[in-house]
Amino acid sequence: MPKIYTTASEIDFTIGELPKMPAPSRVLMVKPTYFDVEYVINPHMKDHVGAVDKLQAQNEWEYLEEAYEELGFDVQTIDGVKGMPDMVFCANQSLPFVDSDGNKKVIMSIMHSSERKGEVNAIEAWYRTQDYEILHLDPSKVSDFEGMGDAIWHFKRQLLWGGYGFRSSINAYQQVSELLNTPVIALELVDDKFYHLDTCFCVLNEKNVLIYPDAFTAAGLEMIYNLFDNVIEATSYEAEKLFAVNATCPDGKNVLIQQGCTDVNQKLRDAGFSVHEFSTYEFIKSGGSVFCMKMMLW
Ligand code: ARG
Repeated sequence: MPKIYTTASEIDFTIGELPKMPAPSRVLMVKPTYFDVEYVINPHMKDHVGAVDKLQAQNEWEYLEEAYEELGFDVQTIDGVKGMPDMVFCANQSLPFVDSDGNKKVIMSIMHSSERKGEVNAIEAWYRTQDYEILHLDPSKVSDFEGMGDAIWHFKRQLLWGGYGFRSSINAYQQVSELLNTPVIALELVDDKFYHLDTCFCVLNEKNVLIYPDAFTAAGLEMIYNLFDNVIEATSYEAEKLFAVNATCPDGKNVLIQQGCTDVNQKLRDAGFSVHEFSTYEFIKSGGSVFCMKMMLW
């Protein structure tokens, strides 16, 4: 059922009524060999041009990769490409999907900034070696769409949460919704420090979500509170400085998160989650952390 929802009063379903979707079992990561801050396309990058400690970044990335293996995921890694310092953030170049019959599809992104446009072909080349049907948005109708940085699946349900305002446009969701035959809850983002939905909205499982409330409009918050039983809110310090909400909960139980998010971690544990802390300080210099350093796949 393709449809875009922009206010809570339009919501005409409950989560339990939506078609099921399997949880992802594979993870794609791009090696950080060429990762650096070379330009400024978000406020976090401003003071960090040329300031990435490459060895430290490599170590941080390896610990994360091992964590997915320890949790039982099949981890695929591909080489970065010289001249594409942000390709390591591989949540952004695509939006994968599996339908009720097990058919795998992927929508390739249209990156907002010229600096990152080339990454999409590099990631598409990898999908061509996989059993995914590759779909493209119509560039005459859609100006930008940054994949799973802004479009996040509800856990185990065919429902897409779509952020817009900075890197993706709301008109992208019309096409995404039709191509994947799925409803989209469109959430407007209002603070440029939280420029991707994955910086302020982290689906933990079917009932729980972690958010940074000030990044949303009142209409967006109402839809979030309407559809989740439990909403955990991060403080501005942990959300902005530690990227607490750019965490990931790939199996609905274990949360991988930047280290030091004391307040959020306590709230997560109180809600029954296991918390695993990682250093992603080098990647935070570029405006990304745990969530955007991988792509979940089926
Ligand atoms: N420097 C990258 C950019 O601004 C960081 C992307 C982080 N990704 C994310 N999904 N938050 O595009």
